[in-house]
Amino acid sequence: MNRRIVIAELPSGAVAERHFRAETAPLPSPGPGEVLTRTLFASLDPVNRAQMRGRTYRDGLDVGDVMPAFTISALEDGTLVAAEGGWQEHAALPASSLAPIDAGGGPLSHHLGVLGLNGLTAYFGLLDVGRVAAGETVLVSAAAGATGNVAGQLARIHGARVVGLASTDAKRRLLEERLGFDATLDYRSPTLSRDLKGCCPEGVDVYFDNVGGPLLDAVLPRMNVHGRIVCCGTLASYDADAAPPGPRAVPGLLISRRLRMEGFVVVDYADQRATAVRRLTGWVKSGELVVLEEIVNGLDAAPAAFVDLLAGGNVGKRLVRVSA
Ligand SMILES: NC(=O)c1ccc[n+]([C@@H]2O[C@H](COP(=O)([O-])OP(=O)(O)OC[C@H]3O[C@@H](n4cnc5c(N)ncnc54)[C@H](OP(=O)(O)O)[C@@H]3O)[C@@H](O)[C@H]2O)c1
Repeated sequence: MNRRIVIAELPSGAVAERHFRAETAPLPSPGPGEVLTRTLFASLDPVNRAQMRGRTYRDGLDVGDVMPAFTISALEDGTLVAAEGGWQEHAALPASSLAPIDAGGGPLSHHLGVLGLNGLTAYFGLLDVGRVAAGETVLVSAAAGATGNVAGQLARIHGARVVGLASTDAKRRLLEERLGFDATLDYRSPTLSRDLKGCCPEGVDVYFDNVGGPLLDAVLPRMNVHGRIVCCGTLASYDADAAPPGPRAVPGLLISRRLRMEGFVVVDYADQRATAVRRLTGWVKSGELVVLEEIVNGLDAAPAAFVDLLAGGNVGKRLVRVSA
């Protein structure tokens, strides 16, 4: 049998545990070209909440659907693969969609975070879209999250001055004391605009934007001429019925400051993935890139862990250990 977590109700307002339901179904049987996988780890990603509102660049979700998730899964012969198995113990997936993983002696879980989706997103977003250079100032939103913490550390590794935005003192201390951020700010502060000015006296060259919404509005006036805004995600709108209003300074400031604002999706970089994973692995091994990871045990814990993630409860990558 297959234990799985499906959507019980589509949320209106913030997502809650009652929007999910655990159920036991027959083991899926693979069709032509498919294989049966067993889930070891499932990734928790805020963007899956956006799918509950309808189509993004990924399909929308409906009641009864298994909650989607990137997974580290095992084939029947023990081969380890990166897959999209969802919140379930077993999945029947097209063989062509699976990528073998060589854990190389390191923790398997890293392949869902720092060496997987989030590390690669930070890497291509910062280096290819943001084109960071030594001596520049890089500002990162959701900086203590899975993607943001890696983006900030990569900026530090490339010789930039790094400022992170996070909600709590504990997160900010961690960023400054363990991850080498030069400064951090509470983005919820009523004096945010003034705080940004004080923290980035020479302006911002690269804004790694995981959030969008009013925060982007507050950052735009601090951007330097020829600055780059890396549009990575829009966390401000995922757990709500409607997106918050967009920034007022677009396109005026984009023109006067000659800014480049560019969105990207990490899957477009598949051809450069191997090089990126090799470089990220090198920084992790040398200790230059600190890994922040939280592992929650058991599929049944996934809904609560996901709801808490959207409320800012996570530090770094949060994932679920589904089976041994
Ligand atoms: N473009 C791509 O290819 C790609 C790929 C992967 C991920 N992404 C995007 O990257 C972003 C980060 O994803 P992640 O998986 O690394 O999540 P994450 O940052 O680990 O988790 C969410 C964190 O965001 C912060 N947050 C939540 N709501 C916020 C808001 N309204 N304003 C500011 N901060 C907020 C919270 O931290 P605080 O406590 O500090 O509020 C929370 O801990 C998302 O937008 C995601 O969609 C994009």
